Amino acid sequence: MPAVTTTAHARTAGTIEVVAVTAKAKLDAQKIRADFPFLEERFNGKQFAYLDSAVTSQKPRQMLDAMRAFYEHSYGNVHRGVYQLSERATAAFEGAREKVRGFVNAPSHREIVFTRQATEAINLVAYAWGLNNLGPGDLVVVTELEHHSNFVPWQYIAKRTGAGFRMVPLNDNGELELDALDPFAHEGNVKVVATNLVSNALGTINPVDRIAQWAHEHGAIMVCDAAQAAPHIPLDVQALGCDFLAFSAHKMCGPSGVGVLWGKAEILEAMEPFNLGGHMIRKVRFEETTWGELPHKFEAGTSPIAEAVGLAAAIDYLNAIGLDAIAAHEHELTAYALEQLSELGGVTLYGPPPERRAGIISFNVGDIHPHDVAQVLDMDGVAIRAGHHCCQPLMAKLGVAATNRASFYLYSIPEEVDRLVEGVKRAKQLFA
Ligand SMILES: Cc1ncc(COP(=O)(O)O)c(C=O)c1O
Repeated sequence: MPAVTTTAHARTAGTIEVVAVTAKAKLDAQKIRADFPFLEERFNGKQFAYLDSAVTSQKPRQMLDAMRAFYEHSYGNVHRGVYQLSERATAAFEGAREKVRGFVNAPSHREIVFTRQATEAINLVAYAWGLNNLGPGDLVVVTELEHHSNFVPWQYIAKRTGAGFRMVPLNDNGELELDALDPFAHEGNVKVVATNLVSNALGTINPVDRIAQWAHEHGAIMVCDAAQAAPHIPLDVQALGCDFLAFSAHKMCGPSGVGVLWGKAEILEAMEPFNLGGHMIRKVRFEETTWGELPHKFEAGTSPIAEAVGLAAAIDYLNAIGLDAIAAHEHELTAYALEQLSELGGVTLYGPPPERRAGIISFNVGDIHPHDVAQVLDMDGVAIRAGHHCCQPLMAKLGVAATNRASFYLYSIPEEVDRLVEGVKRAKQLFA
């Protein structure tokens, strides 16, 4: 791989800036690959080049072992039994909550709610906060860059409550036009601003801290979808200044089936519950039911117990490597891939320059349908995503039905980028 300028995203007082990477931050991807049993598999005799980590990540042995050990030695339901096994399970589950609290630098573990995934976390806010706080004359503001998970719930709740719905537009670089925010404040009472920190389709890193400041100046809450940020860059909810933050374990070396909603305690306290049933109550009488304390008020039913333990192990795994080192590694691969793909000619690359994006590259190859490109690559054991990436409003903005997307993670290596580029060359020849 030729030398590329190596930079990393660092956070200073809530601002992501680009800094030179020190030797200390470098990770050893080859060594890391030995932690991932999946990479021992062969497909058509070849190692799989998994370039679709944005959709879900592969899993390290350390996380798998932690879940297995929990199921074998400590499994029981939590917050229910008085026997030792249940207490052991509860300690592990609540330990996972504390681990997540530290991971996002939340002031209190009471603010960490376990959900099924980021999607459920955002729906929780949209329903439990939105139904009681939105109405005619109010505005919900999202962006053209949103994943449907942070778009459709807000569009739906706005419609149900009679509130208006607006999108912050993108510029030609695939970055948000923040100048568009002020006019919204003249069109109605802006009550919610919802955006992702990292776009799953373009990799754009959004200035959530600045948007949160604007939202608060206008009396709105700020909801941050960190599904693509949590696996790759250090998170600090206090520096970001948001009111809610959502992410999923499965994209960050953890298991599927568990996600996280962080919310400011005073807002969560004032909200009605989302799901109703066991565990989330204080007292149930025929006449009335009252709600439990945070975070239990939002955790009805049996929790994703072992999954939370797996998430905690994934956090340990990522922390041991260092999120700064992971971001720097992905940045290097992204810069290399962008350079190689742009040299091919006839490849349209979407999104900002490498220093302002995470390890995600969306592209089209002439007018070849992305599914055809992805299938040619698959014949060579290279897995990329082709489609609208759950971002149909963005695709409409770009004027395409779909793109190809390659995404990198800590186990990705330059040879996989080379295989991607070779596959794109082959697709060009095949469909010429
Ligand atoms: C930016 C973004 N937000 C939300 C989601 C939804 O994640 P999940 O399906 O785990 O709820 C995704 C998944 O791809 C995403 O990329």
